[in-house]
Amino acid sequence: MIEKYQKPAEHDDGLRLHQNEHTGGCSPKVLEALASLGAQQVGFYPPYDAATRACAGYLGVDPDRLSLLNGLDEGIMATAVGYLRPRPGSDRPEAIIPDPAFEILAFDTEVVGGRPIRVEPNADFTFPLDRVLDEITPHTRVVFITNPNNPTGVLTPLESIRAVAARVPKDAIVFVDEAYAEFSGVSLIPELERLPNVVVGRTFSKAFGLAGLRIGAITGHPDALEPIRLAVPVYSVNIAAVVAVQAALQDLAYMEQYRAEVEESKTRLYAACDRLGLRYWKSAANFVLVNAGERAERLAQGAAARGIYVRNRSKEPGLEGCLRVGAGVVAHTERCIDVFEEVLCGAE
Ligand SMILES: Cc1ncc(COP(=O)(O)O)c(C=O)c1O
Repeated sequence: MIEKYQKPAEHDDGLRLHQNEHTGGCSPKVLEALASLGAQQVGFYPPYDAATRACAGYLGVDPDRLSLLNGLDEGIMATAVGYLRPRPGSDRPEAIIPDPAFEILAFDTEVVGGRPIRVEPNADFTFPLDRVLDEITPHTRVVFITNPNNPTGVLTPLESIRAVAARVPKDAIVFVDEAYAEFSGVSLIPELERLPNVVVGRTFSKAFGLAGLRIGAITGHPDALEPIRLAVPVYSVNIAAVVAVQAALQDLAYMEQYRAEVEESKTRLYAACDRLGLRYWKSAANFVLVNAGERAERLAQGAAARGIYVRNRSKEPGLEGCLRVGAGVVAHTERCIDVFEEVLCGAE
């Protein structure tokens, strides 16, 4: 039996720092574009050419090498369907997943009948290259690498991804999840022409604040993309997302400003952790993994009682005592820091 995916709680009564969203929301240009949608646009099946070209232009790839997705989540599920389903007469396909990982990777692998091969992290959460290479077998079909990783925010060296790509079997791919690449400024996309067995998934949920509309993209060599494309429903991206992503990409200044806020927020959060005696990992994303040790539960619950929601991952193997805290809009981070100080210092 597959364990049901535990969706994070739908908190709508406080500050949501538990799902790495842009808590300031999307650009005003996106709202204008949505408001200008006409009745016929809503009445017709959505056209994808212009949005595909806009996304391809933003990522610097040929439009033929990019497909839109109903969120990167869809790309992960489509990859599982395309690569990890057992075929008649063959063994159970394997997906290598370095831990700690975005939970959906193992979940989707199991849903389609594949076998997740979990790889233990290094103590400092750097990429465990040797152990990943050791796990590659003729049954490997996908190696999932999230860069920077969620929930740690730690970057994977591109050299390690190249090494994995050089080692996987002929009919396997490396799926690089770059959901947070706008914040790290690091991407494998410029190299994809030379890496035909690597696909890169991106999302507009995080840096562009479009999570509620569900829009992402996947890019890579057309042959590697083909099994994934076959598994994406023909009209999975709706017209609101189509117009929104184009508007968002015409207002890159809005995204850049958020990126600057994320940097400032992380600096302030690190300083607060130092003051409070909390360990943390330097993050290349818009969140910080904080180790509150035995205080984790009290901190998460105390913050929630004050309307600040963070992701409590302290019960998961390898993440004992850890909370993941969104670090975006500076004013929101300041509220979070005040509450952390109140919960931890007020009660001691
Ligand atoms: C690593 C990673 N991949 C994919 C996603 C999902 O992105 P989307 O909202 O585009 O489905 C998330 C969202 O939290 C994520 O952290």
